[in-house]
Amino acid sequence: MTYHRGRTLFPAAGQLVAPDADGLRRAVELLRRESVVAFPTETVYGLGANAFSAKAIAEVYRLKNRPSWNPLIVHVATVEAARALARKWPDVADELAARFWPGPLTMVVERAGHLTGVGAESGTIAVRIPAHEVALQLLEVSGLPLAAPSANRSEGISPTTAQHVLRSLPEVPLILDGGPAPWGIESTVLDLTAPTPRLLRPGALGLRALREVTGAITLPDDVDDGTLRASPGMSKRHYAPRARLILAEKVDPAGLAAPVGVLAYEGDEGPYTELLSDDPREYAADLYAALHRLDDAGVATIIVQAPPETEEWLAVLDRLRRAAAS
Ligand code: TXA
Ligand code: MG
Repeated sequence: MTYHRGRTLFPAAGQLVAPDADGLRRAVELLRRESVVAFPTETVYGLGANAFSAKAIAEVYRLKNRPSWNPLIVHVATVEAARALARKWPDVADELAARFWPGPLTMVVERAGHLTGVGAESGTIAVRIPAHEVALQLLEVSGLPLAAPSANRSEGISPTTAQHVLRSLPEVPLILDGGPAPWGIESTVLDLTAPTPRLLRPGALGLRALREVTGAITLPDDVDDGTLRASPGMSKRHYAPRARLILAEKVDPAGLAAPVGVLAYEGDEGPYTELLSDDPREYAADLYAALHRLDDAGVATIIVQAPPETEEWLAVLDRLRRAAAS
């Protein structure tokens, strides 16, 4: 690796690796040596480590500058592998897995005694099977459960491309480049340790689809700042671009002096205006990339047209409110 600390422009492009047989072999070798590897999932890119290696997991926390109290999601290739990490595996977990795995649903269950060190001192574990060819191949070829948070510095915007990972975490030894992540927003995190499933983080998988399997779902109480705060990682400021972000009912780019960025789902595109879809799924798929572009354009402030307050927009609203909190 030719990357040197302090060199900021295009550090060692050699870290970006095609996810072919050779790339996968190199990635697996690093994972076996208790190092870390970034890889694409259908939601966002993850920074993966052998879930049983304290050393590799410590490296994930160090690279991300992640607080130690914030636990990691463990990725597995099969429901059996997920079950093996759990002390209790409720029936509803099987039903949810049958319907939504592989896919953007993370389930929190009671953790098996032999698994320590993923930060989950609560006695629980978050698991999911990702729906991405490269992630699944990495899991299968390595034969390891992979603890993997989003591959960005703590509190920053999650990466939806390999280039985002490289810029946020230039020290990562290898990044499997699988192109843009299709969902572009993180998985939905659902706690199954209580009699009624509890939403910990709204995400790619919508509540309506989940309720078809689980029935009622407990939503986190709205706290004073209007953000949901339930999973340990859901700190008030999170998913934030460098620029200051302001949510507004109405946005009139003409009335703004550049360089103020605008993120809207109505109106016209412009040099500092990112126009996203008015469909919540398409909007979510582009959101982080748009915030990355506005950051790159050097705007100090981003005015965001506030999306409708409906359940379909729950995950997007949650991320925007967190990004706006300061
Ligand atoms: O889509 C995703 O979930 C991506 C991809 C890479 O899979 N991963 C991701 O990981 O977003 P991360 O670490 O950025 O977010 C994981 C969230 C955090 O809010 C964390 O607090 C929560 O899941 N979490 C992890 N383990 C938990 C546990 N045992 N109990 C409750 N919440 C947990
Ligand atoms: Mg994250």
